[in-house]
Amino acid sequence: MPTFTLNGQSTTLDLPDDMPLLWAIRDVAGLTGTKFGCGIAQCGACTVHLDGEAVRSCVTPLAAVAGKKVVTIEAMAQDPVGQKVQAAWRDIDVVQCGYCQSGQVMSATALLRAKPAPTDADIDSAMAGNICRCGTYGRIRAAIKLAAGQPPQEPRS
Ligand code: FES
Ligand code: FES
Repeated sequence: MPTFTLNGQSTTLDLPDDMPLLWAIRDVAGLTGTKFGCGIAQCGACTVHLDGEAVRSCVTPLAAVAGKKVVTIEAMAQDPVGQKVQAAWRDIDVVQCGYCQSGQVMSATALLRAKPAPTDADIDSAMAGNICRCGTYGRIRAAIKLAAGQPPQEPRS
């Protein structure tokens, strides 16, 4: 029965320690902004922050979050860096179908918190595990640069 902080609120869930965090977030806490894609840490749709780090919640057991801070996409509007990222996402009009985008925003926000002026290599490294079947990668890169205060170079395709 792990106790952890979920979007700023102390949360105790009467659930098995080996249940994936994603299940608890979506099915028990009712926060459905975090998406299920692959279930095996290969797509990034389920990305959340665990003590500020981007992690794949589909392969993170509840036991691993005990005593820690979990933040989901629902809290990004209250996060100063998350606000910048989401504003840039809107300005660049990144989203196509949208399914992958919660995870993309969470990875981008963790990146910019750790590295406020990321290089292309930093962006490639941080975002490599977030798959977009709609191919919005160019716009994602441009939006990360915009959020970082750098003029986007890539065509908005
Ligand atoms: S659902 Fe977790 S990485 Fe794909
Ligand atoms: S916007 Fe459709 S999968 Fe990324």
